Amino acid sequence: MEHTRIKELLNASEFGQEVVVKGWVKTFRNNQFIAINDGSSIHNIQAVVDFENTDDSLLKRVTTGAAVRVKGQLIESLGKGQRVEVKVTELSILGDSDPEKFPLQPKKHSLEFLREIAHLRFRTNVFNAVFKVRNALSFAVHQFFNERDFVYMHTPIITGSDAEGAGEMFRVTTLDLNNIPRNEAGEIDYKEDFFGKSTNLTVSGQLEGELAAMALGNIYTFGPTFRAENSNTTRHLAEFWMIEPEMAFYELEDNMDLAESLLKYVIKYALENCQDEIEFLNNRLLEEEKNKPAAERSELNLIDKLNFCLSSDFERVTYTEAIEILKRSKPNQKKQFKYLIDEWGADLQSEHERFLVEKHFKKPVILVDYPAEIKSFYMKQNDVDEHGRKTVRAMDILFPGIGEMVGGSQREENLEKLLNRMQEVGVPQEELDWFLDTRRFGTAPHSGFGVGFERLVLFVTGMTNIRDVIPFPRTPNNAEF
Ligand code: 4AD
Ligand code: MG
Repeated sequence: MEHTRIKELLNASEFGQEVVVKGWVKTFRNNQFIAINDGSSIHNIQAVVDFENTDDSLLKRVTTGAAVRVKGQLIESLGKGQRVEVKVTELSILGDSDPEKFPLQPKKHSLEFLREIAHLRFRTNVFNAVFKVRNALSFAVHQFFNERDFVYMHTPIITGSDAEGAGEMFRVTTLDLNNIPRNEAGEIDYKEDFFGKSTNLTVSGQLEGELAAMALGNIYTFGPTFRAENSNTTRHLAEFWMIEPEMAFYELEDNMDLAESLLKYVIKYALENCQDEIEFLNNRLLEEEKNKPAAERSELNLIDKLNFCLSSDFERVTYTEAIEILKRSKPNQKKQFKYLIDEWGADLQSEHERFLVEKHFKKPVILVDYPAEIKSFYMKQNDVDEHGRKTVRAMDILFPGIGEMVGGSQREENLEKLLNRMQEVGVPQEELDWFLDTRRFGTAPHSGFGVGFERLVLFVTGMTNIRDVIPFPRTPNNAEF
């Protein structure tokens, strides 16, 4: 390779050698100083051009966004703000960038604006940092599980089932939508479809994961999942990545321990391996905080928040206890909630979750034993309590600023109880007969959970909109690029 990556040069300890740098122009000042970035670092390298002896027509082409090659001597920089620079002997333009048309200017753009040009936002520092952290977290997930002898399973993207039973699926079909075949009853005739049956994009790899866990012991999936839920929020995507471990012979407590260790491990990994990026994101947030009224400013900065999360034990509480806390907090916190929780059984709104995590416990919280009615059919049923209330061995992990980061449970291993529940909530048995074999042949206690990967990236980067932590967000009415 002819060129050296900028990150390496910025860390160089020897000077004087001839180097070649290739990258994109960030800024060009005084017809002399080119700030070049090649993506390897969020920091640029400064290339100093001998403008008096360089052709003017060439200098004119050094514009923001242009790809350049410079050759020169790596020297110690006397200027402020950088340690090294390149004294250019050869400059060439690899690809021009018309300054009239290139939408990124050497100034701070709003995230909303950058979202509209998501195909170009990789060129900005903030997205460089975010996607580096995303990469590090993804790597750390694999490292965590492989250190513990978990098997990475690839579960299918196209499935014939609805793993969550929530009916939020994107259909997959090759039928001609202008001429849909129907049977005599007027129903769609899927026999003519590609798979000979109705299929959809997976909402979760869990059910296939359970099959594997009930043979291999400990497995995990980490892949894209799809939800056609029409929630236009800063926490929902129609296409998101989920990490789903599934473990044979794990009970709910083991499940909670594993989830807490995983989250701490990957956050620690990012802190240690993305120092520049996290520091950059931290500074960016501090700048934003300065513009807020004092009362709204956050007490902890990003790095403090991440370290705090590592050092604290996540609080473990039952749904019933959480409801009691929320009820008690009502009288003196009148304006806290738009929706008051008066009744046991109601699902928590995100404002309730935020109250518990941010105001009450002030740390990540694991909520367990939810009412069966608001959770999926496959969760292990607890004994009915003294008030006749039915709960399941569910666990949700709530994070400050994020809300639900993890959803999981111990699974119902008893075939009869599972079948009854499926019938109650209308999950067709025929569709999941293969899944039920895990309970027919050698059933055993087992547990698992799903981490919403983008919500994890949101937490670690301190970004506030989930559209800004995935390269190409898919949300209602937005599938561009
Ligand atoms: O709570 P969920 O729906 O649980 C499951 O899918 C289980 N099958 C997981 C398991 O036990 N194996 O989703 C798990 C997590 C949520 O806690 C949330 O972090 C994330 O996935 N999530 C979403 N993230 C972004 N956009 C969406 N629309 C999401 N829906 C869920
Ligand atoms: Mg959930």
